[in-house]
Amino acid sequence: MAHDPLRWGVLGTGKIGRNAMIPAMLAADNARLVAVASRDLARAEAALAPVADRAPGARALAGYAALLADPEVEAVYITLPNSQHVEWSTRAAQAGKHVLCEKPLALTADDARRVVDACRTSNVLLLEGFMYRFHPQTAWTLEQVAAGRIGPVVTVRGSFAFDIRGRPHDIRLQGALGGGSLLDVGSYPLTYCLAVFAESPRAVAARAQVPPGAEVEHAVAAALDFGAGRLGVIDCGFRGPRHQRVEIVGEDGRIVVEAPFTPGTTDTVVRVVRGDETLEKRFAGVDQYRLQLEHFGHAARSRSPLAIPPEDAVANAAAIEAIYRAAGYTWPPVAHARSDHP
Ligand SMILES: NC(=O)c1ccc[n+]([C@@H]2O[C@H](COP(=O)([O-])OP(=O)(O)OC[C@H]3O[C@@H](n4cnc5c(N)ncnc54)[C@H](OP(=O)(O)O)[C@@H]3O)[C@@H](O)[C@H]2O)c1
Repeated sequence: MAHDPLRWGVLGTGKIGRNAMIPAMLAADNARLVAVASRDLARAEAALAPVADRAPGARALAGYAALLADPEVEAVYITLPNSQHVEWSTRAAQAGKHVLCEKPLALTADDARRVVDACRTSNVLLLEGFMYRFHPQTAWTLEQVAAGRIGPVVTVRGSFAFDIRGRPHDIRLQGALGGGSLLDVGSYPLTYCLAVFAESPRAVAARAQVPPGAEVEHAVAAALDFGAGRLGVIDCGFRGPRHQRVEIVGEDGRIVVEAPFTPGTTDTVVRVVRGDETLEKRFAGVDQYRLQLEHFGHAARSRSPLAIPPEDAVANAAAIEAIYRAAGYTWPPVAHARSDHP
């Protein structure tokens, strides 16, 4: 444990917080969990109960505002529905807290820009929680591309889908909460494309599938034109068997990542195919949520910039907007009303 761990508060008691980020906070070398807030005190208590012995002194709080008012909290992890990310990231920044917000940071580029500006004004860190960027396999793959290992990249293909049947009340299916498969799983292959090309698409063609009676789209396919013949092709959805994959095609070879986004903590392999040769690069299993937190904590303590600049969240939101517009999908699906809970 670092001498002076970053003191974290968690806004919301959702699945990803309870199952991944709170355990990662307890495991991280430089983090300490000091508070969890819920709209309902009992839920905050229930989220803390299983880890009480490893988070001595951590407090359960009623209402998100109470956590922002807690002087011991230095950094806030926001694990709320997508529609609430902008409001609570902004309020956290205004309270002087560093912000690690779950993806996507915002539903529109304008909103993302407002959060980035609020964090800059308050001189706090801002990270959009694309945790896969902190997995060594992602860093290595992007290094191979940058080093020209497969030649100039011509196409990036990415997919992420899972079957949401059986979860009819999921936040991902609700328009008012910023649901939709592109904002949820689709944002992963999309941001992978943007990371490879290191720029925004110049034009987009897309289709979105909205099942009868559904509030949000359940599947999206998009072709992104990065100019000079460079294309991104992504698809995502809430249907079909769980599936994720990224393939980066260059003029001289290709790189295939079979579990690019949520590989769990098992070993992974990235294949580099050049002509008849295939190199298999193996990675020992890691907790990418922990690596994300440790990077954030190090940046906060050393006052150094994060590896992923906050402006990336603006570009990500702009690309999401461009895809929805190209698909003729009504966007944004919710008025950005201030939430009615404390
Ligand atoms: N990086 C990743 O690996 C990853 C994985 C999954 C999800 N995510 C992101 O994490 C966020 C949360 O996803 P999740 O799957 O953890 O969601 P979830 O289990 O549904 O939890 C959402 C939490 O938000 C709070 N909340 C506030 N207003 C709400 C409302 N009107 N309806 C429902 N919940 C409300 C609730 O906490 P209280 O009731 O306690 O206040 C709830 O527990 C999303 O932005 C999602 O995109 C990221």
